[in-house]
Amino acid sequence: MGLSREFGRAISEGPTPADVAGAPALPCPSGWSALAFSEELRPGSVLTRPLAGEDVVLYRLGTGAIRAIRPYCPHLGAHLGLAKVEGDDLVCPFHFFAFGPDGACVRTGYDTKPPRSPLSQLPVLEVNGAVFVWRHHDGRAPDWTIPAWHEIGHRPARSAAWELAGNVQEVIENSVDLGHFATLHGWARAEIGGPVVYDDASFHVSMRAHESAPLLGDFVVDVEVDGYGLGCLHADVHTARLGLRMCTMVMPTAIAPNRMQFRQRNRIAFAEPSRLPGPLARAVSRTAARVLDRAVFRSSCEFTAADFPIWNHKQYQQPPRLAPGDGPIGPFRRWARRFYPPSPE
Ligand code: FES
Ligand SMILES: [Fe+2]
Repeated sequence: MGLSREFGRAISEGPTPADVAGAPALPCPSGWSALAFSEELRPGSVLTRPLAGEDVVLYRLGTGAIRAIRPYCPHLGAHLGLAKVEGDDLVCPFHFFAFGPDGACVRTGYDTKPPRSPLSQLPVLEVNGAVFVWRHHDGRAPDWTIPAWHEIGHRPARSAAWELAGNVQEVIENSVDLGHFATLHGWARAEIGGPVVYDDASFHVSMRAHESAPLLGDFVVDVEVDGYGLGCLHADVHTARLGLRMCTMVMPTAIAPNRMQFRQRNRIAFAEPSRLPGPLARAVSRTAARVLDRAVFRSSCEFTAADFPIWNHKQYQQPPRLAPGDGPIGPFRRWARRFYPPSPE
């Protein structure tokens, strides 16, 4: 039961060339995976989202807290994606058994003594306008987190989501694949501003791109990238020449072998020119800000989408045959191993 298409656009419906070739898929990595944007889960709403071949049911209590649970009712197995939230209880649609915020069954639909059969809850984290669920291959509890964004400006965030083929690791790996920024994304020149720093489940890399555009001439884009596991990447993009600052959170989620949902959330801030005096200046700059905000978001999504046809059709190449000009992909892959079960060798 996948209800994922209600929010996004499916890029790949049928088998891809990699599927047809029987290319082995990477397993779903352990850690936090984004399953929704915050605004999709209003108080009282219930959502079903796929994660690693299974459904996860998300719901928001009247208090605003979110719960993530395995989908089947412990009574007789109804799918709880069809349940309703009443106050802080989740009520199954089949026999009206109700489950409290801690997952315990608090009443039955017949006003009899509730059985001791709680919901199976999963760790959930709501941060930066996204809802993440924890899943670990050996059942370990969360031992790292995704920090809150620093604030930039006051404009509301913009979000987009897609569903496509591919491995989530390769989305995060993209940030150290220096070569493709010129070949696929068209940057005139890209360089890494120092070694990639790995710290347990996170990493940091600084990048600088040299760009040029009609009317604007040459300009520099500085990018600070922070990765948290293989499900969340935060890029802080700064173009001093244009007075533009953008934070992008990229969140790939493994939903099945070689299939992912891909969410992106952007916040934008820019110096708003105000040469006109008084209220007119404010009105003009508000309108300009809205237009610019939309244009920057669209171009950010186009930048992201340049990778989609590649991910949608490729297979995972291990070992890769690297060449001078590639980014530090080898160390990244060694770091990424921690998110998978140990390999038999
Ligand atoms: S299956 Fe959920 S109450 Fe019976
Ligand atoms: Fe890319």
